[in-house]
Amino acid sequence: MSFNILIADPLSEEGLKPLQDAENMNLVIETNLSPEELENKIGEFDALLVRSQTQVTRNIIQKAKNLKIIGRAGVGVDNIDLDAATENGIIVVNAPNGNTNSAAEHTMAMIMSLSRKIPQAYYALKNHQWDRKKYVGVELKNKTLGIVGLGRIGTEVASRAKGQRMDVMAYDPFLTEEKADKMGIRYGSIEDVLKEADFITVHTPLLKETKHLINAEAFQQMKPGVQIVNCARGGIIDEEALYNAIVDKKVAGAALDVFEEEPFHDNKLLELPEVFATPHLGASTIEAQENVAIDVCQDVIGFLMGDLVRNP
Ligand code: NAD
Ligand code: MLT
Repeated sequence: MSFNILIADPLSEEGLKPLQDAENMNLVIETNLSPEELENKIGEFDALLVRSQTQVTRNIIQKAKNLKIIGRAGVGVDNIDLDAATENGIIVVNAPNGNTNSAAEHTMAMIMSLSRKIPQAYYALKNHQWDRKKYVGVELKNKTLGIVGLGRIGTEVASRAKGQRMDVMAYDPFLTEEKADKMGIRYGSIEDVLKEADFITVHTPLLKETKHLINAEAFQQMKPGVQIVNCARGGIIDEEALYNAIVDKKVAGAALDVFEEEPFHDNKLLELPEVFATPHLGASTIEAQENVAIDVCQDVIGFLMGDLVRNP
């Protein structure tokens, strides 16, 4: 028996080796398919592998007559209609651990760039402006970093921020005061974190409950001059509210890796000098891409060959 596997987003070549080497697996790599193209093709495939770009909608799933498994090479499964997959008996696996380190490092790079206005200063210099006064930053030492969502990435960010001598405070529904104490950080309610933090970084999944978790009301509770980082998911922060909070001078800066609409060519937040951004690069390292592709390929092979799914 052989299986047809569609790779619909760019995945690491090294990471795909387990699938290439496995017997009876026919790999088809076709990225950048339109939703219609994917709908027309998906019926031929037993497995579908994606990153975050391909939207695996109910329409696509309903056409996927032979599909048994969807592999998400990364953490967030918000681009996959999980209800539709479950109703159609399709298993969804992700690779939750492989990009944790890269996402945490990217978050720290954003926090450090924000505190010292490095992207703005570089942009000015590229435009032949030598201006030392305009780009005075702040130290991270003794500043409070508020982490919303202390899962895998939030925890890694916390330990790195402590290395920068920051005072780290976190809110997560599963965090207890005892656990926070053990980690050498402060435990707070979401209100405490919003009120006390000099920098706020979000690390929750995008769920109904976390959509616009950071909204106009949340910005009102924050300290004037707070700086915001989002390397988790677009939509956790209400972009319109963030825009207004920056224009109103409540928020002094924002570093964004993820957006409510992706990909985009224009986003009005980028017109503000206080904002800099990367195009969803949190997991874009050689190591992370290899890790997540290997993890998800092994799960897909295992499942199709009748083994248990590890979902590491
Ligand atoms: P995780 O599941 O380990 O952690 C998420 C945490 O959020 C959990 O501890 C959970 O309890 C907490 N949480 C849930 N609802 C919450 C709420 N309402 N308020 C506060 N906390 C809440 O996930 P992770 O691996 O740490 O990933 C976190 C996010 O980062 C995901 O959205 C993921 O997709 C995203 N991510 C982005 C990139 C990137 O390229 N930018 C890379 C990797 C992960
Ligand atoms: C993830 O959820 O793992 C990230 O968005 C990384 C990605 O797939 O690019």
